Amino acid sequence: MLTSTLFLGLLAVAAGRALPGVQRSRSQDTFENPILYEDFPDNDISLGPDGAYYFSASNFHYSPGAPILRSYDLVDWEFVGHSIPRLEFGDGYDLPPSGQRAYRGGTWASTLRYRKSNGLWYWIGCTNFWNTWIYTAPAPEGPWTRRVWLGNEVCYYDLGLLIDDDDTMYVVYTVDGGRQVNVTQLSADGLSPVRSQGVLWPEQVGVDSVEGNRLYKINGTYYILNDRPGSTAYVWKSSSPWGPYEGKPLADNVPGPVPGGGAPHQGSLIPTPSGDWYFMSFTWAFPSGRLPVLAPIEWQADGFPTLITVNGTWGKTYPRPRGLPAKPLRFPWTRTYTFSNKTSTSLPPTLEWNHNPDISSFSITNNALVLRTATVTNDLYSARNTLTHRVHGEYPKATLKLDVRGMKAGDRAGLAAFRDQSSYVAVEKTSDGGYEIVGLFGTVLDEWGSGATLDLGREVERVKVSVGKKGEVWFRLSMDARPNGTRQAKFEWSLNGKKFTALKETYELYTGWPFFLGYRFGIFNYATKALGGEVKVLEFKTE
Ligand SMILES: *[C@@H]1O[C@H](CO)[C@@H](O)[C@H](O)[C@H]1NC(C)=O
Ligand SMILES: *[C@@H]1O[C@H](CO)[C@@H](O)[C@H](O)[C@H]1NC(C)=O
Ligand SMILES: *[C@@H]1O[C@H](CO)[C@@H](O)[C@H](O)[C@H]1NC(C)=O
Ligand SMILES: *[C@@H]1O[C@H](CO)[C@@H](O)[C@H](O)[C@H]1NC(C)=O
Ligand SMILES: *[C@@H]1O[C@H](CO)[C@@H](O)[C@H](O)[C@H]1NC(C)=O
Repeated sequence: MLTSTLFLGLLAVAAGRALPGVQRSRSQDTFENPILYEDFPDNDISLGPDGAYYFSASNFHYSPGAPILRSYDLVDWEFVGHSIPRLEFGDGYDLPPSGQRAYRGGTWASTLRYRKSNGLWYWIGCTNFWNTWIYTAPAPEGPWTRRVWLGNEVCYYDLGLLIDDDDTMYVVYTVDGGRQVNVTQLSADGLSPVRSQGVLWPEQVGVDSVEGNRLYKINGTYYILNDRPGSTAYVWKSSSPWGPYEGKPLADNVPGPVPGGGAPHQGSLIPTPSGDWYFMSFTWAFPSGRLPVLAPIEWQADGFPTLITVNGTWGKTYPRPRGLPAKPLRFPWTRTYTFSNKTSTSLPPTLEWNHNPDISSFSITNNALVLRTATVTNDLYSARNTLTHRVHGEYPKATLKLDVRGMKAGDRAGLAAFRDQSSYVAVEKTSDGGYEIVGLFGTVLDEWGSGATLDLGREVERVKVSVGKKGEVWFRLSMDARPNGTRQAKFEWSLNGKKFTALKETYELYTGWPFFLGYRFGIFNYATKALGGEVKVLEFKTE
């Protein structure tokens, strides 16, 4: 359905394309999907006390956990921080030798809300298959505190939190493999359950299971939003949080806005001060990941919303939400990272570690991020302190500048296309004191269950090089990350930062979904013989 405002917006887009002079008004009047071409799945979006929107996402085994984004206009988002400073649940997320591998564990489909009565933010999630943890903080930026573990096998699976007008807290979640949805009322401090009840059954709308649950109170009516994985978003309404609920599809197999991507289904319902409503969902778009997509919705006379589509599909563009100020963001999504002495020991939230970092093995000194080897291994997936950055856009590119003079024989440091199937270009220090560029393609993790390494990869290239006095080596990785593109990743290296040499082979990025997360740039340094070596990361640029 095309409302008149939407239609005017689309005319503005058309005019913007035809007349270059109108480009500026085009970007002011409309937005494009995906809202952010980066992997931020399982959004739970709500309004903060400062009038900004906050977006909680999943990042599984990456640390810190549970990313938080902020936006003033629902279109431009910035990375604020994480709800989980360090992954400290289950059997640990420290990687060998001191810890375990927990790929695909960690944080997924959680909820984040501000509670006015005590000024606290609550993050609740079933982590690590299958235990529910609650964290709280006075502000989204933190400090976040781990408050309570609700007990073994208490899993509020794919949950949503509602803080009712009378301050009562409820969570909604799926039980019995998705065949039932429960509501649980929490205690006054929000830290323990007091009453639980099954409230709706997917078979009511003719499907076997749902997930991605949210609970809202809108004009006195309780609404549950959830979805059948991969296809359909449902909205359910009732006059009581305990039901009975009546359900209807909100978006049923609506083709997504990214060519080759999936039908958006899971997400959040979002009001604006001008009385308009939006559905933020995501489209499955590997190799990149699950990309947030936004669309307006319209409430009908029967009390259910419908999605505003464009010719039966999720619009590539829509008019910008009305009445929301565009505020300048602190950082663009692509930028050059340097590691100035003044930034102390903390890294920007856009950089996340693969599992928890060994904090004794990295530091920011002399305007560099120093990565000391933390693991002796020949398996990239067991190496501690791999620092990652989500790939951005259809054609992501990253350039890494290292000082390799502190490496020890057998150490490997470089830049990876990092996921459950990975490849990299690296520099290796050899036993005769020289250096070699190494290309390693096709490491494979078991994407189902065990997370064991199935393939250590094959060496595709090895070139002896003479590194200059300053020990500088550059790596570059460029991808076509469009799901229907070539999906080729090109690896290059350089000894002067100007002339880059490509590896002879390119790598085809993997598009399977069971790992749940998309490709990241991975900056790594691991030992294959003995600890004691280090590299300095002088600069990391993402484009
Ligand atoms: C869900 O509700 C049922 C009652 O309908 C209850 O027996 C069950 O314990 C609840 N599940 C959880 C995880 O609270
Ligand atoms: C809520 O009620 C107000 C006032 O009656 C009305 O303008 C608004 O459209 C309603 N919103 C929804 C989502 O039904
Ligand atoms: C919708 O489809 C019609 C018929 O194919 C086409 O003429 C029109 O341009 C499309 N509109 C949009 C907004 O894509
Ligand atoms: C950074 O700190 C180191 C000591 O850790 C010091 O030697 C160096 O001069 C400092 N550099 C700058 C630019 O402040
Ligand atoms: C990807 O989709 C776009 C838009 O539909 C199309 O122009 C392009 O040809 C497609 N590419 C491939 C490789 O299918």
